[in-house]
Amino acid sequence: MQWQVFADPADLPPAERSLLGRAVEALENAYAPYSNFLVGAAALLENGEVVPGFNIENAAYPLCLCAERVALAAAESGFPGIPVDVLAITVRSARHDVQEPASPCGACRQVLFEKEWRQGSNIRIILRGATGPVYVLPSAQSLLPLSFDPDFL
Ligand code: THU
Repeated sequence: MQWQVFADPADLPPAERSLLGRAVEALENAYAPYSNFLVGAAALLENGEVVPGFNIENAAYPLCLCAERVALAAAESGFPGIPVDVLAITVRSARHDVQEPASPCGACRQVLFEKEWRQGSNIRIILRGATGPVYVLPSAQSLLPLSFDPDFL
């Protein structure tokens, strides 16, 4: 897997730095009383709109929603047919300082991949922990080699 590493968000191009800031804002609205692990996402759409997402947990644990899929679903329902160009994701734990970017879970990778497949253009992924470096990946597929795609069906 290939990705770019920026030592600090200040080193990012302005548009990407700004999108990461929107993900941090989204994180503040996360509902994560069980894990105390807050995740924020911000999707930049082709039309310039920014759609936030955050994790939403539930006392019935398997029903927890990941921030990435909340952002993608909000983008899809609010702006049907508009491609997602970039998705920024950040995390914060009440238990420890997350100093490295936390990468999307396997389920989110699969959903991100199919969104990318459907729209026919890459979704750049920007990742950051609570502190530390920023990783920029060129596509959802780069997070999911040998992916299962609808052509198999
Ligand atoms: N979480 C996300 O929002 N995105 C991921 O890709 C990984 C995990 C959330 C789910 C749960 O609310 C908390 O983080 C701990 O797993």
